[in-house]
Amino acid sequence: MKGDGIEVLHVPGEIAAFARARGAEGRPCVVIDQLRATSTIVTALAHGARRVLAVGTLEEARALKRERPEALLAGERFGTAPEGFDLGNSPLDYTPDRVKDREIVLTTTNGTFALLACAGASRLRAASLLNLDTIAAAVAGAKESRPFVLLCSGSDGKAALEDEVTAGAFLAAAGFPDHPAAAPFRAWGAGPALQARAANGRRLVALGLGDDIAFAARRNHFPIVPEGRIGEIRTAEGAVLAVDIALPPS
Ligand code: MLT
Repeated sequence: MKGDGIEVLHVPGEIAAFARARGAEGRPCVVIDQLRATSTIVTALAHGARRVLAVGTLEEARALKRERPEALLAGERFGTAPEGFDLGNSPLDYTPDRVKDREIVLTTTNGTFALLACAGASRLRAASLLNLDTIAAAVAGAKESRPFVLLCSGSDGKAALEDEVTAGAFLAAAGFPDHPAAAPFRAWGAGPALQARAANGRRLVALGLGDDIAFAARRNHFPIVPEGRIGEIRTAEGAVLAVDIALPPS
């Protein structure tokens, strides 16, 4: 099946325009940032984190941490943990002993931006290869009045190959293998060797973080469906817009 009506966004500029137009209003949205924000969110929740609060800026993340000193302050700029952060954006660092029962305040360059672009979505979910088939089945099986939007977070203003092939794998698993956006996956698959040759993969390898690529490429390692809700969190310094991502109660 081709999946007419399914919209796929590929680059940060498209995502920004979608956010400005409130394109998510009333539609189910799925965000992919394979390297690495959604892989990290999936790992954190699968390892028992209570919730991930995704925010746009370093200042907002630090303001939330001041308000919630028990929370772990996490994320990256230029691939590494900013000054004073408890964790970077490496899924491998989100081990059960570090994250179980913790709240995580996360800010990353592209992934949290794509999540925040989904204000008004009827449902907002975070996908990666780590939870691929489970989340594809949840999205395909949901009774929604409108087709879903797939947001590939991209990087550096461009499409990211690892997001494109993950989106294709997602579309195929959701029953739409002939959707045009599944073509890169049909052609190349979504294996770690391909991802390591993509721009983000090469950047991670150069930072000594190449192990993240192989870990995040473990398809269906964590069969979970993280769901996000966007809202304002009040702090002493003003309101912060955050995506509150957690696992639905079982
Ligand atoms: C992002 O949000 O841009 C990525 O997750 C970046 C990274 O992991 O280094």
